Amino acid sequence: MPNENGNHREPVWELHIRPMFRLIDHEHMSWLDLWDYDTVWAKREAILGRVSDKSAPMPSYPTGGPWPDEWVSIFRRWIDNGGHKLDLGSPDSAGYEVKKTFDGIRISAWVQVPGEGYRAWLDIESVGATTRHYSLVVEAPLDDPGGPSTELEVRDEFKAGSVEKLIVVDADGRHELDVPT
Ligand code: HEM
Repeated sequence: MPNENGNHREPVWELHIRPMFRLIDHEHMSWLDLWDYDTVWAKREAILGRVSDKSAPMPSYPTGGPWPDEWVSIFRRWIDNGGHKLDLGSPDSAGYEVKKTFDGIRISAWVQVPGEGYRAWLDIESVGATTRHYSLVVEAPLDDPGGPSTELEVRDEFKAGSVEKLIVVDADGRHELDVPT
């Protein structure tokens, strides 16, 4: 399915590959960390062999059985693409803005990216009663399309509830932001 730039959506580790490995896979395969990018990349051919093995597949039948063929194809395409993954980005000099909206709280920032075809967003890592955790992530295009550098807006909006603090991890480190009352 072509994306908004007319290109096919290419699989990305954090979005499409890492979630294919379940908690039970991770537990039983503790000697090969299936949630670690570098480990999976280093063992990619062996993993591809096991998930596409028709006679003794991984995951095993007693633990849910093998992946659908489409998942194997996505894993193969991810390998062929060179193991695409997200990067952390940084906000521009204005930093993060956290403000009240009509019915909630909005966190936003502008992110400088080097060319066309980039995406950036605030990914939610976890939501607690008083704290929300984010990562500011950037997805580079697979093939550098060039073009002028540009700024992208990232934002998230949520019901205020009892949230007091926002933690954002970005390329510059960890930031604690107070939620206005
Ligand atoms: C380098 C590739 C891999 C090798 C060599 C490998 C090998 C093994 C071995 C030797 C075991 C223990 C023996 C067994 O219970 O069958 C095992 C268990 C298991 N593996 Fe893998 N595995 C690989 C990749 C994977 C992947 C990619 C997944 C998930 C997508 C996975 C999921 C599991 C699960 C769920 C078990 C527990 C099986 C059970 O208790 O029946 N493995 N694997």
